Amino acid sequence: MENFSLANPVKIIFGKDTIKNIANEIPQGSKVLMTYGGGSIKKNGVYDQAVKALSGFEWYEFSGIEPNPHYETCMKAVAMIKEKGINFILSVGGGSVLDATKFISAAVCFEEGDPWMILKGGKIKKAMSFGDIITLPATGSEMNNGAVITRAETTEKLAFASPLTYPKFSVLDPTVTYSLPPRQTANGVVDAFVHVMEQYLTYNEGDSLLQDNMAEAIVKTLVAEGPKALKEPTNYDVRANLMWASTWALNGWIACGVPEDWATHMIGHEITAFYGLDHAQTLAIVLPGVMTVLKEQKGKKITRLGKEVFGIQGDDAIDKTIKAVEDFFESMGVKTHLSDYGLGDEAIIKVAERLASRGWKLGERQNITPDVIKEILTIRK
Ligand code: NZQ
Ligand code: ZN
Repeated sequence: MENFSLANPVKIIFGKDTIKNIANEIPQGSKVLMTYGGGSIKKNGVYDQAVKALSGFEWYEFSGIEPNPHYETCMKAVAMIKEKGINFILSVGGGSVLDATKFISAAVCFEEGDPWMILKGGKIKKAMSFGDIITLPATGSEMNNGAVITRAETTEKLAFASPLTYPKFSVLDPTVTYSLPPRQTANGVVDAFVHVMEQYLTYNEGDSLLQDNMAEAIVKTLVAEGPKALKEPTNYDVRANLMWASTWALNGWIACGVPEDWATHMIGHEITAFYGLDHAQTLAIVLPGVMTVLKEQKGKKITRLGKEVFGIQGDDAIDKTIKAVEDFFESMGVKTHLSDYGLGDEAIIKVAERLASRGWKLGERQNITPDVIKEILTIRK
């Protein structure tokens, strides 16, 4: 096991009817900005619950944060915060609203020029406090310090993380996920599944047993509960298990002391930046390709995944496991080939060239070069 340090300060408030508790978590006297997306919270009652809980505060709202949130939109919220003298942000929505909120909280305090620099490695020295009501189990953003922001003008989608951008609190009420459309429920399950794979499916085998067992527990939960959530969208325990599993998939614990990959995400982000696919759709395309091309390096772990999660043993266990992963994504209704989304050679070249221009070496061994990216995407046509 590699050395590690761990500090996760997020207060989790989990369960039915817990949105009202935000009144006790936001410091008294705060001027609050509620951030939200395209309006799903107005249809499912979450907005009304948040408004009620904010009744003792002076508060404002900023809506219209889009999926794969835009830098340009975030900067409008930054201007509003400065104009109104706001000092606390409440994010109400999915990972996109929360990621935007993380960026806004850092951008409003950024004094070293254009806040876009934050996405280019600029150091965050200060950030405004924020909390969230998360409405879509997927990203783990509710219990991590990372965010992914898109600049529409340049079709760039980049991530940042800082010890200063953890939420102060996150409210996880599984009943708010009853209203998710099947596509978003499925996206969430696939995203969380792939988060675990990025931290588990590496050359590492046998020297971080607790993390491996924890990773498998999360994936087994997703595989068992994901299909049920599509059939029984208002089953509380199914929704609760999915919500907690998604949070655990990316809250830092299973990353302790292990190598990490993240190639699937980095390739996927470029596909979204250029072609607008949902985040999870890109992952469902790329992960089986990464597993296939890197099957020697990742073989022992793929074999273990097959045995522990899908009950696969014996001849061709690696290939059967890769197929089982692909079949699981398809069974959730998330298509796994570029052609399913009308993409082909042009996209492969564009994505590989963009990643080549960044000079990144991807994967836990930094051996996923632009040529390997082309190979991965070519088998996913
Ligand atoms: O905008 P509204 O109207 O709220 O609708 C949203 C949106 O259209 C809707 N939705 C959310 N909760 C709902 C709901 N509809 C009905 N009922 C509810 N309870 O779902 C749609 C998608 O929402 P979005 O927030 O975009 O989805 P998700 O949570 O999957 O977030 C995706 C974003 O997170 C980033 C992705 O790259 C992408 O930009 N990621 C963030 C990470 C992190 N911070 O750690 C890690 C991930 O790997 C990921 O990259
Ligand atoms: Zn993801």
